[in-house]
Amino acid sequence: MRQRVEIKPSGHQFYVESNETVLDAALRQGINMRYGCRSGACGACKGKLLEGDIHYENDPIALTDKDQADNLVLFCAAHADSELVIEMEEVKLDSAIEIKTLPCRVHDMKLLTDDVMQLFIKLPAAERLQFLSGQYIDILLEDGRHRSFSIANAPHNDEFLELHIRLVDDGLFTPKVFKTMQNKDLLRIEGPHGSFFFHEESTKDILLLAGGTGFAPIKGIVEHLVSEKVTRPIAIYWGVRTEADLYMNELAQSWAAEHDNITFIPVLSDADSNWSGRSGYVHEAVLADFEDLSELDVYSCGPPAMIQAAEKTFQEKGLKKNQFFYDSFDYASDQ
Ligand code: FES
Repeated sequence: MRQRVEIKPSGHQFYVESNETVLDAALRQGINMRYGCRSGACGACKGKLLEGDIHYENDPIALTDKDQADNLVLFCAAHADSELVIEMEEVKLDSAIEIKTLPCRVHDMKLLTDDVMQLFIKLPAAERLQFLSGQYIDILLEDGRHRSFSIANAPHNDEFLELHIRLVDDGLFTPKVFKTMQNKDLLRIEGPHGSFFFHEESTKDILLLAGGTGFAPIKGIVEHLVSEKVTRPIAIYWGVRTEADLYMNELAQSWAAEHDNITFIPVLSDADSNWSGRSGYVHEAVLADFEDLSELDVYSCGPPAMIQAAEKTFQEKGLKKNQFFYDSFDYASDQ
């Protein structure tokens, strides 16, 4: 049965069918809620249920007991059992950006580390995918499921879409990329998606925080900022396990060498004795370097634990909630 949903404080309304989640219904009707994984794992779509009843088909992993006690809900997983009133921040997106489903071909692949593949996808001739730096696409699988990957190139350089794909050993899609995928293979993609993108209107200093292949959308954002000749200070922190995982270290070092306003700080969580740089958790390196985060816009992409730790500790150092933009993804979601 179709249910009406009202959003506070905007007063916007939309309708949810019984076979779709609240988030899917909102997006279908042009209401842009904040979201990331769309699988209940990251917490990006969390909001408050003020009135009504919902149910989940699977356990909402990203909800703590306290969240549930506080009536917080994951809208990407929630189905409406009655009319709802919800409290949720809406995201202003450029409504002119069209979400497309396109057949594409694998143009090129490059192994960046033992378990990260750089994949270039070629769109059909005469097709372009308009997107904002930081957004992602879905690769549509034959069984109807999808896998989401951030776009690693900037919108001005859109001949190919560049993805950084980390191998998940028993995954559904990523092992194919490493073992059987070849140039010219056909893929179906849908996008662009995501509320993680660079906000042009701010004048604040910029802090970019990447974990693992969360570097991909950060790369897209930096290339966009460089192309737009943005002079605001840009600090890039990239956390990985070992030096071998810094798969585009030279590129990031070159941004810092060529632009006075850019600094790049790689941080290893499992450094060996040859490493003379920063070590530990990447968000802790930021905390050590900044006394006050209130005058920064922070863009963060990486695994849920990194995002959650950064969000909590950065707010303790003055970062306002609406200045923390993030895309949280779970590698294991390919399983
Ligand atoms: S938990 Fe809903 S988008 Fe990730």
